Amino acid sequence: SSEAELIHMFKGIPFTTRSSPELLKSLDTFDAREDDVLLVSYPKSGTHWLAGVITKLYNTQVTLTSPIEFGDISKLEELNKLSSKRIIPTHLDYNMLPPNFKNKKCKMIYISRNPKDTAVSMYHYYRENPNLPTVDTWTAFFDLFLKGDVVCGSWFDHFLSWEEHENDKNILFLFYEDMKKDLPKIVNEISLFLGLNVSDNDIEDICKKSSFSEMKSDTEKENSDPSHTVCALTSNRKLIFRKGTVGDWKNHFTPKQNRRFEEIFNEKMKLSKM
Ligand code: A3P
Repeated sequence: SSEAELIHMFKGIPFTTRSSPELLKSLDTFDAREDDVLLVSYPKSGTHWLAGVITKLYNTQVTLTSPIEFGDISKLEELNKLSSKRIIPTHLDYNMLPPNFKNKKCKMIYISRNPKDTAVSMYHYYRENPNLPTVDTWTAFFDLFLKGDVVCGSWFDHFLSWEEHENDKNILFLFYEDMKKDLPKIVNEISLFLGLNVSDNDIEDICKKSSFSEMKSDTEKENSDPSHTVCALTSNRKLIFRKGTVGDWKNHFTPKQNRRFEEIFNEKMKLSKM
C-alpha cells in the first residue's frame, strides 16, 4: 500500500490509518478511572516486555487492553465496558494524552530505550510490517527517523514531552537497558510503584518467564493470544521479538551516521537530563 493509504497526520504527528481520526479527536473526552495503569512508550522501546512483566505481577483480574489510540470511534465505548482493572498501553506523547488520566493522577509507567537501538528496531519493523510504509534502505530510514518523519513522530519530542513530568509522583520512568542489566531490580521497583506485595520468589519466577527466549517461544507456540499486541502498529506478535539486545545499532550505523546522530541528539536534548 502507498504511504498515503497507511499514514495520516493528526496534530502534526504521523499515525497509521489503524488509528482513526475520529478516535484521535475523541480521546480528550475519555473517561479515565483512578485505578487505570498506563504503559507508555515510543514504539520499539520494550513495550511488550514491560506489559508481560506487569500482567504477571498481578494476582487479581486485570485486562491488558489494546493501545488507547488504536481502532475507531467504538474504542472508547469498548474500554468503558471493561469491568476489571485496566492496563492501557499507549504511544501518545504527553500532550496528546487524554486529560482525564492526568487529572485523576493515574499511575503511568514510561519505558524508553537508547534511541539508536530504537531506530534500528523500528527500521526492521517497518520492513516486516505491512501496516507501515515501505522503506528501501537503512540509510533512507535513518534520515526519516532523525526528521521525526515516522509513525508517532520524533523520538526526541516524545521523550522530552514525558521527561518534563519525570518528577510527577504518579509516573515511573524505566529504561530498557536497565531491564536488561538487572531485571529483578526493576521488577521489584515496578511492584513497589504499583503498590503490590510480591515475594522474591515470585519476582524470580516472573523474570524467568519474561526472558526474551521465553516470550518469543510463547508467541511462536501461541500460548499467548497472537492477535493481541500492545503496539498500535501491528496485530502480529511474531513481528515483535526480533533480537532483544542492547547495542545492535553498532551493526547498522556508519561512523558518519553516528556523528550526525550525536550532533542532533546533543542539540535536541540539551535541556534533558538524559
Ligand atoms: P529488537 O527489534 O531490537 O529486537 P516494543 O515491544 O516496544 O515494540 O519493542 C520491541 C523490542 O523489544 C524488540 O527489539 C524486541 O525484540 C524487544 N523485546 C521484546 N521482548 C523482550 C524481552 N523479553 N527481552 C528483551 N527484549 C525484548
